[in-house]
Amino acid sequence: MSLQPLLFDVESFQETTNTIPYLIPTEGIKYAGSKLKLIPTILELIRPLEIKTVLDGFAGTTRVSQALARSGYQVHSNDVSKWSSTFASCYLEAQAPLSYYQEHIDALNQSAPIYGWYSEHYGCLPEDLHLHKRPWQLKNTMRLDAIRQEIDRLQLNKTDENVLVTSLINALDVVDNTMGHYASYLREWSTRSYNDLHLKVPNIVRSQEKHFVTNQSIFDAIQGQSYDLAYLDPPYGSNNEKMPPSRIRYASYYHVYKTICLNDKPELFGKVNRRIDSKDTLSYSPFEDFRKDEAGRFIAVNAIAQLIQNVQARYVLLSYSSGGRATAEELENVLHENGTILNILKINYKQNVMAGMQWTKDWIRDSEKPHQEFLFLLEKK
Ligand SMILES: C[S@@+](CC[C@H](N)C(=O)[O-])C[C@H]1O[C@@H](n2cnc3c(N)ncnc32)[C@H](O)[C@@H]1O
Repeated sequence: MSLQPLLFDVESFQETTNTIPYLIPTEGIKYAGSKLKLIPTILELIRPLEIKTVLDGFAGTTRVSQALARSGYQVHSNDVSKWSSTFASCYLEAQAPLSYYQEHIDALNQSAPIYGWYSEHYGCLPEDLHLHKRPWQLKNTMRLDAIRQEIDRLQLNKTDENVLVTSLINALDVVDNTMGHYASYLREWSTRSYNDLHLKVPNIVRSQEKHFVTNQSIFDAIQGQSYDLAYLDPPYGSNNEKMPPSRIRYASYYHVYKTICLNDKPELFGKVNRRIDSKDTLSYSPFEDFRKDEAGRFIAVNAIAQLIQNVQARYVLLSYSSGGRATAEELENVLHENGTILNILKINYKQNVMAGMQWTKDWIRDSEKPHQEFLFLLEKK
């Protein structure tokens, strides 16, 4: 039986479910498009469904993956970005006792600072920020140099190494001098950048299920897999024709995290010292494409359509922002072509509006306003 499609505002939805939105502990860096605030809603929305296996196809911070794993689902966490699969491996796969990680992290916190490759390219003395803008103070990049070198020297298995690298990136995130990404750095030191880098043991999920982590483009990751539910949170892109694609791309926003994961000291370019493979021409995602194809359709919309069609899942939960590439009408068609829309939620963190939005078409009117976020629950044909 299919449900009558309804459009709810998230806050009202949480009230009408008669359950207190529960807080599942998750950890993660500051990240463009992080769904931290949506986690209780996502969990409420999928709770009535009979599902066990869930794909988090664009996992980013992996906060949604962590919450799903903590809620008893078996999770496949995938993202094309290296840092995301490093986090997922840490939070979903690490098996060693916490005391084992604590011992290593205590030792890393004691490492003597050294001036190395990271300090050269990403650190500077507090008084030198006017010479070149940098994401961290030198005292902290000198710790980064020492700690990253020590992690390699330890030669742990890959998962345990990922735990230490995640701990290092989490620690760097709270002493950074950025607006939440590394495509530009602040002119004046942020207050937090004066703090000392301090690593903590990540809050690893311990669950009965064996989870699965991949670091692939989504179309490769879903090959030969099937799920009860696929949660899809592709990059938003931008409707602004004038915005160059490099400004909205994850590879360029978080380039330095890839370097810390790989510790490969890559060739760098540009004012913010981006790794060379973060160039638009070298790391391409159709979901971040701002252009139209020959038929006049946005390439990003085509990618979403192709993905919804190809993913082997009974249910699809799609996150979508009205600032994104997909136009509302086009997306509506894609969803209808592929199944039955069970629910549409409009995320409204500030106002509490629900009135008059009873039918699916109403979301299209609403999506004309910028920065509206929606969740679509689709039962596939
Ligand atoms: C909106 S963010 C996801 C945020 C995530 N749900 C969270 O809560 O942190 C979009 C993610 O898509 C990833 N991405 C971009 N193109 C991709 C592709 N072709 N396949 C898989 N992941 C991709 C980016 O690396 C980014 O992490």
